Amino acid sequence: MANSLLITGASQLLTLRGRGPRRHAALANLGIVKDGALLVLDGRLVAVGTRAKIEALPEAAAAEKLDLRGRVVLPGFVDSHTHLIHAASRAEEYELKIAGATYEEIARKGGGILNSVKKLRAATSEALKQRARRALTQFAAYGTTTIEAKSGYGLDVASELKILRLHKELAAEQPLDIVSTLLGAHVVPAQYRGSSSGVKRYLALLTEKLIPEVAEEKLAEFCDVFCDRGAFTREQAKQILQAARRHGLTPRVHAEQLTRTGAAQLGVQLGAASCDHLEQVNSSDIAALANSRTVATLLPGCDFHLGLKNYAPARKLIDAGAIVALATDYNPGTSPTLSMPMILSLACSQLRMTPAEAITAATINAAHALRRDDRIGSLGVGKFADLAVFEVADYREIPYYFGVNTCSMTIKRGVVVYDANKATI
Ligand code: NIG
Ligand code: FE
Repeated sequence: MANSLLITGASQLLTLRGRGPRRHAALANLGIVKDGALLVLDGRLVAVGTRAKIEALPEAAAAEKLDLRGRVVLPGFVDSHTHLIHAASRAEEYELKIAGATYEEIARKGGGILNSVKKLRAATSEALKQRARRALTQFAAYGTTTIEAKSGYGLDVASELKILRLHKELAAEQPLDIVSTLLGAHVVPAQYRGSSSGVKRYLALLTEKLIPEVAEEKLAEFCDVFCDRGAFTREQAKQILQAARRHGLTPRVHAEQLTRTGAAQLGVQLGAASCDHLEQVNSSDIAALANSRTVATLLPGCDFHLGLKNYAPARKLIDAGAIVALATDYNPGTSPTLSMPMILSLACSQLRMTPAEAITAATINAAHALRRDDRIGSLGVGKFADLAVFEVADYREIPYYFGVNTCSMTIKRGVVVYDANKATI
């Protein structure tokens, strides 16, 4: 029996309709339908338009009905950059940072990513899974319906594979989609540090063992490298990402976050799906991104959490024509948030993006960053019925409110997975 659902009562239905990733002024075009409605069949949209038009369809009569009573509806957020699996917070480092220690100083003393690696290796799979389950529940509660998830706190073959297998298990047991990325090149693990031959051995482990095994087991679609001072150089990143490509993994890069390394232009050259962070980009990096299909993913949660003020130049990137996306970068060291609405608030107040641009960056452009624009990120016929419903009268109120959750319902493939009035998930 086909499962059909008629959704009505969207005061503003943000369809994000249109072709291709959004650049320039197209970022501000939300394709709004007033008094909108949607017809869903087996988890996919079969009709999108005004209430009058959709209700008049013959298939609408027999469908189950959901009246949203004037709320704002948009595509579920696509959070295209998260470090989902980690064992614990790093609240102790947060205090050090507040007292004046920099992220890099803490990392040099064995804190930072290596601190999370120690904690992860000591944790059981069940404990990691339990923490991730709670996170996924929260992602859904803030309107996110698809996340990307990176490994990167294992940094040995067994632990990295363990993380990627957990992504798969979690994807099978709960409603949100999880898109997996190998980040074996997060930093050089402790036992390989201190000599160039040690670093070489770790690179060989990545390119000759981990990447081939991950590809063989189909545990990830993407391969990421943290290319920065204290992590991997541009040359090392190139070697890793070229190996990834040979094995069918699509590159993406943590680029130009703490220092400018040239990683963004490397990403463009290698056809990376996205270059993420970009706080330190120069004008030639901006031009390279603008002339490419590589998505420029901005992560303002990092500067907010670290108390920094060198946010990425979003306006320059948009004006140059880059495909700008936004993501939480949910991770214990630089951005412990799961809230895309909070990221939208930061994008507006700190990156000077408009509410419309921020919503586009968090939906359809982010879907492009995950190479899933055929299925998610906008509300058109044939796409997944992945929706976020907000208890507001105007979409601009989504970033306007901050530190409160105005998401009142999240729907994944036509199924209500979060309802603020019921808290079903
Ligand atoms: O995206 N920059 C590298 N990776 C993370 C931070 C990870 C950590 O500190 O645990 C980021 O900011
Ligand atoms: Fe990150």
